[in-house]
Amino acid sequence: IIHGDSDEASLSVANEIASLIKQKQEQGTKAVLGLATGSTPVKVYDYLVQFHKEGRLSFKNVITFNLDEYFPMEPDSIHSYVRFMNEHLFDHIDIEPHNIHIPDGNLSMEEVRKYCEDYEEKIKNVGGIDIQVLGIGRTGHIGFNEPGSTLSSKTRLIRLDRVTRLDAASDFFGEENVPKRAITMGVGTIMNARKIILMAWGEGKSNIIQQAVEGEIKESVPATFLQHHENCDFVLDEAAASSL
Ligand code: GLP
Repeated sequence: IIHGDSDEASLSVANEIASLIKQKQEQGTKAVLGLATGSTPVKVYDYLVQFHKEGRLSFKNVITFNLDEYFPMEPDSIHSYVRFMNEHLFDHIDIEPHNIHIPDGNLSMEEVRKYCEDYEEKIKNVGGIDIQVLGIGRTGHIGFNEPGSTLSSKTRLIRLDRVTRLDAASDFFGEENVPKRAITMGVGTIMNARKIILMAWGEGKSNIIQQAVEGEIKESVPATFLQHHENCDFVLDEAAASSL
């Protein structure tokens, strides 16, 4: 789906999420959202906050699972995805804190494996993800599923690609400060979502978007696995779509 600009595109995604939440409210059930960080979804979160402030949308029936977190990472660090999500969304809406799930970057190595298994269980126990929002990294990663991630991969600790760490370097004031690892939902976890919306803006994403949409499905570009999903939209601005 190609929009004139990222603002219009973000509004359409926010409207789709709001419709799901309202529909679930009418049914008296919960909406389960898979959420992403990075600059791409920020405007979507802005619109959701705006809908809430205007009294048009409540998040009382919403459960969220974030895709990933750096490891190690203290939750109150300026670089943590916990902080990012609070700043851009959770601090401004009426979601119940116990309904928010973000991978914990503050665990010991011994605790991680069990923690990741439990994260998968929690997603299953609430009936799976209704809408999974995604950005895309220059390596073709979704969440932090770097090249080499398999279609069936689950939530786990991974080693970040050099390109990803370079892209994050300015946020961390130097590549040497970027954590070498992260916890991420797996490609398989993402593929289990009933609906997937991958967003990308700007010319810098056009090459990887072309590969993800039109390229051969392969582990070296994990986003190509989304071609297997039956209900996945790529929501793009014209610049990100320019190589298609
Ligand atoms: C990080 C995140 C991804 C995100 C990617 C792109 O690697 N873990 O989930 O898609 O960045 O970031 P941006 O949206 O800033 O381009």
